[in-house]
Amino acid sequence: MTTKYRIRPLFDLTGKVAVVTGASKGIGEAMARGLAEFGASVVISSRKQESVDAVAESFRSDGLEATGIACHVGKAEQRVALIEKTVATYGRLDILINNAATNPYFGPIENLSLEALQKTLDTNLVSALELSNLALPHLQTVGGGSIIHISSVEGIQASPGFSAYNLSKAGVVMLGKNQSMEWAKYNIRVNVICPGLVKTKLSQMLWQNEALAKQAEAGIPLGRMASPDEMAGLAVWLASPAASYCTGAVIGNDGGFLNAGPLG
Ligand SMILES: NC(=O)c1ccc[n+]([C@@H]2O[C@H](COP(=O)([O-])OP(=O)(O)OC[C@H]3O[C@@H](n4cnc5c(N)ncnc54)[C@H](OP(=O)(O)O)[C@@H]3O)[C@@H](O)[C@H]2O)c1
Repeated sequence: MTTKYRIRPLFDLTGKVAVVTGASKGIGEAMARGLAEFGASVVISSRKQESVDAVAESFRSDGLEATGIACHVGKAEQRVALIEKTVATYGRLDILINNAATNPYFGPIENLSLEALQKTLDTNLVSALELSNLALPHLQTVGGGSIIHISSVEGIQASPGFSAYNLSKAGVVMLGKNQSMEWAKYNIRVNVICPGLVKTKLSQMLWQNEALAKQAEAGIPLGRMASPDEMAGLAVWLASPAASYCTGAVIGNDGGFLNAGPLG
């Protein structure tokens, strides 16, 4: 890059190492791709080794640097192994994106079993806390870093039937806010992205039903759901020195949904 640029180099992630959970498909894959295209070495992680190997291989075939390391984020020993193997592979860690999540329960809040609640909290919230704690010493070693939590508009706004998911995603918002205050002294920035409706496997129950999809899109000012790639740019920015003054932010990437109130 020539020296005439003052701002553009701030987006450069060359030499940085990133872990993205839930990166075998959907939003995680798109964010990992974004980080890699801006120069980071990226660890692609999800539960199945074949899936993460396939994504890493597809990145490498495009000249990007990526390695697949399987990890069920709800399992403590696998979380430890993910961070240890990342540092063993690339020698450092700069960026952690806690993206993997599950939504196993839909129904009345009074019927939510403690077992289903615990499973949702373990996968969506406890994992983000624990992976952050495991990453902390490595981020301190390199003089700081960026943690990005993927919450949801469902972490801000209630949706009937989604109690466990809403609770977990609201917890993720507060986790990021607390960490941002406590870890600023280490030059670790922590931010939270709240995607709106994105066309992925997780949301397919909704977008595959034409009537439901139309109803949902009517509540979005931009009038449509997002593609996973539309989530990548914000993650690249938050991960990069271009966002060096941004911490503790909870940012909707939602077509205007949270701002809208009832439409139509
Ligand atoms: N799609 C939306 O409309 C939307 C809206 C708001 C927020 N979000 C959030 O965005 C994030 C990504 O969702 P998505 O829509 O991209 O979902 P997705 O396409 O279904 O992808 C989920 C990813 O997470 C992995 N995964 C699932 N359970 C896991 C576990 N226990 N441990 C590790 N990896 C696991 C999956 O791979 P394996 O199955 O191979 O493990 C996959 O790579 C989630 O945090 C979700 O809550 C999504």
